[in-house]
Amino acid sequence: MKFDTPATTNPIDQLKVIGHATSRIDGPLKTTGRATYAYEWHDRATNPAYGYIVGSAIAKGRIASMDLSRAKAAPGVIAIVTSENAGKLGKGNYNTAKLLGGPEIDHYHQAVAVVVAETFEQARSAAQLVKVDYTATKGSFDLWAGRDGAAKPPGRGDNQPDTTVGDFSGAFASAPVQLDATYTTPDQAHAMMEPHASMAAWEGDKLTLWTSNQMIAWTTGDVAKTLGLPKENVRLISPFIGGGFGGKLFLRADAVLAALGARAANRPVKVAMQRPLMFNNTTHRPATIQRIRIGANRDGKITAIGHESWSGNLPEGRPETAVNQTRLLYAGENRMTAMRLAMLDLPEGNAMRAPGEAPGMMALEIAMDEMAERLGIDPVEFRARNDTQVDPEHPNRPFSQRQLVECMRIGAERFGWSKRHAEPGKQRDGRWLVGMGVAAAFRNNLLMKSGARVRLDGQGRVTVETDMTDIGTGSYTIIAQTAAEMMGVPLEKVVVRLGDSSFPVSAGSGGQFGANNSTSGVYAACVKLREAVAQKLGFNSADAAFVDGQVSSGNRSAPLGQAASDGELTAEDSIEYGDLAKTHQQSTFGAHFVELGVDVATAEIRIRRMLAVCAAGRILNPKTARSQVIGAMTMGVGAALMEELAVDKRSGFFVNHDLAGYEVPVHADIPHQDTIFLDETDPMSSPMKAKGIAELGICGVAAALANAIYNATGIRVRDYPITLDKLLDHMPDA
Ligand code: MOS
Repeated sequence: MKFDTPATTNPIDQLKVIGHATSRIDGPLKTTGRATYAYEWHDRATNPAYGYIVGSAIAKGRIASMDLSRAKAAPGVIAIVTSENAGKLGKGNYNTAKLLGGPEIDHYHQAVAVVVAETFEQARSAAQLVKVDYTATKGSFDLWAGRDGAAKPPGRGDNQPDTTVGDFSGAFASAPVQLDATYTTPDQAHAMMEPHASMAAWEGDKLTLWTSNQMIAWTTGDVAKTLGLPKENVRLISPFIGGGFGGKLFLRADAVLAALGARAANRPVKVAMQRPLMFNNTTHRPATIQRIRIGANRDGKITAIGHESWSGNLPEGRPETAVNQTRLLYAGENRMTAMRLAMLDLPEGNAMRAPGEAPGMMALEIAMDEMAERLGIDPVEFRARNDTQVDPEHPNRPFSQRQLVECMRIGAERFGWSKRHAEPGKQRDGRWLVGMGVAAAFRNNLLMKSGARVRLDGQGRVTVETDMTDIGTGSYTIIAQTAAEMMGVPLEKVVVRLGDSSFPVSAGSGGQFGANNSTSGVYAACVKLREAVAQKLGFNSADAAFVDGQVSSGNRSAPLGQAASDGELTAEDSIEYGDLAKTHQQSTFGAHFVELGVDVATAEIRIRRMLAVCAAGRILNPKTARSQVIGAMTMGVGAALMEELAVDKRSGFFVNHDLAGYEVPVHADIPHQDTIFLDETDPMSSPMKAKGIAELGICGVAAALANAIYNATGIRVRDYPITLDKLLDHMPDA
C-alpha cells in the first residue's frame, strides 16, 4: 500500500481496540519466565556449548603473538576461534570496527577470541589462560584535544553537517541580548538489562541465530556479509529482547562469535557478552562539546541562533547529530548549525535512544533557559514567543502537527508553574533549596517501509507475522490491537508472531519509528485480508463492515471465520511512503517539568515531581505509551545526574565498565511521574495517524533538571552529569 495522500477516515478510527489502555499481551509469558530470550533453551539447538569472549587489552595497535596452548588444554574446551583460524570475514553495512579483531586492534575490548567449552564456567576459566602479547601504538582518546583537528563529516541524505540561513554572525553581533555558551555531554552506555546474547546452530551451510536484536533485516544481511553466506542461508530469530536503546540495532560480536564458535565446535553455541565487556566492546552514545549562540531582541524574539557540535568516533564512524533539533525547534531569521567529527580511538559511537536530539536538547534547552533569564521573560513564555509552524530552514514546509506551545501551557498549568520564583535560590523547605525547571521536548517522526502477513483461520482467529521486534516497548500489543480493530475481532482472537527473518520485513525497532510504521504495515496487510474475506463471502469489500467477529453488508452477515472454512486465508502487504514527509515536516513535541530539592549542606539532589506533556499523534495504547515516556524520563534523570563513561585518556578505554561503576537511576531516585498526552491525530504520518513517543520522552528531561537545579541554587552547570562536586564549591551559605 502506498501512503502518499493524507489519511482520511478508516477502520482504525473506530477506536474499539486501538487507543485503549491495554496491558501487554506478552506480559504473562514474561512474568512466568516462559518468554524465550536469545540465551534460553530452544528446541532446535539441543546440547549447546558455551562461548566466552576475550577482549583486547589495548585500544590501538597489533597483536604481536597469541598463545592458546594452555587454554586449549583446559578442561572442557572444544574450540578457540581467533582471526587466525576464523577464515576471511567480510564487513557488514552497519559495523564500523571489526567484530573479531586481530592482528590489528581498533579499540579496547574489541573481541580477539572466543573460547568454546562444555560449560560456561569452563569457557570462562579457559579464556583467562589465553595469552596475548600486544604492540600498542599511540591513539587519540581526548575529544577536547581532538576538537581543533575535527573535520567536516560527509553528509547523509538530507542530514548535512552544516546549514546556514541568512546572516548568522551579523545578526548575532548586533543582537541587543546575546548568549554564547558551551555545554558538554559525556559518553553514555545503553546499559540495557539483557546483555548482547546469541545462540547459533548450523545445518550444513545454513545458519540459525537466536539473538537479541532490534533490526532483523539489517542484521540478517550483515550476518550474511560478514560470514560470506547467501542471505537466504541465514535465519535470525529474536522474539523477545530485554532492552536495546539502540545498542542492539546492529550485528554485534556475540552473534558473529556464536556462529563462528558453532562452526568450529560443530554443535550449537551460545554466547552472552559478559557485562564488563559490553561497555567497551559494543557501541555507546558519544560525548559532545556544543557551542550555542543565541541573539534576541528585547521583546524576546530570537534573531540569530547558532549551534555547533563536536563529537568523536573511529575512522568511518559518524558524528553525533546533536544540532538536529536546532534546525527545527525555534523561529529566528538568521541561523547556522555545524557538526564536526574528531577521529578518536575509543570504542565505536553510535545510536542510543534519540541519537542527536537527546544530547542536543541537553544543551539547547539550558541555553534557552539562560536566554530567558537574560531577557527577563518566563521560560515558558520565551519558548512560546519563538514558536514556528513551519520548518525555519525551509519556510515553505509546514509541520504536519505542532503543539509545542500547547504542551508548554498545559504543562505549566497542571504543574503549578506560576508558583515558581523567577529568581533562583528563593524557595527553601527545611534543609532543601527547592527549584522548578522546564524544557521543551522534541524528536522527529520517521517514515519507513514496513511489511506484514496476516492469516485468518476457520475459527476466526487472526495471526500476524512480521519481523518487527518488541524491545520491551509493547509492539506485540499494539500490533494485536491494530489487527483486532481492522478485522473486527476481540484482542484474544489475535496471535502476533514477531522477530523472525522468515517473516515479512518491517521497519524494526529504532528511532521511535517502530510503532507507527509497523502497525501501518499490519494495517496494509489487513486491508488486503479484508478484501479477500469479502470476496470469499460474496460481499462488496467497499461496504463490508467487520464488527464483533461478523462481516456484514446490507442485511446479510456471516461469521468472519466462514471465509476460511475451507482453508486459511492469507494476505501480505507493506506500507510504503510517498512525499508527505518531504512536503510536511513530521515531528513530535512535548514539555518536561521538574521540581527538585538540593540539600543546602551536601548538594544532594532529590527530584520531587516530574511531568511530561506529549503531542505525538494518535496514542495507540496509552498504557504502553506512558510506560515508554516514564522510562524515558527516568533515563533523562540518569543523563542529568549520573551517567558518564569515564575515559582513561592515556590508555583509551571506559574505566567504569560495569553496573557498579556506571550508575543509572533506581526506583528510589525517581519520584511521582505524571504524563499527559494531547489529543492529536496526524493524517500525514500514516493510516494509523500515529507518531513515535519512546524517544520524545527523553529529549529535554536532563535540561529541565539542570534548569531546576539552577532555579534552586543559582548554580548554572553546563557540563553533564550534574554531580555534587560541580555544585558543592558554589553552594549558597547554609
Ligand atoms: Mo534507537 S537509538 O534508533 O534504538
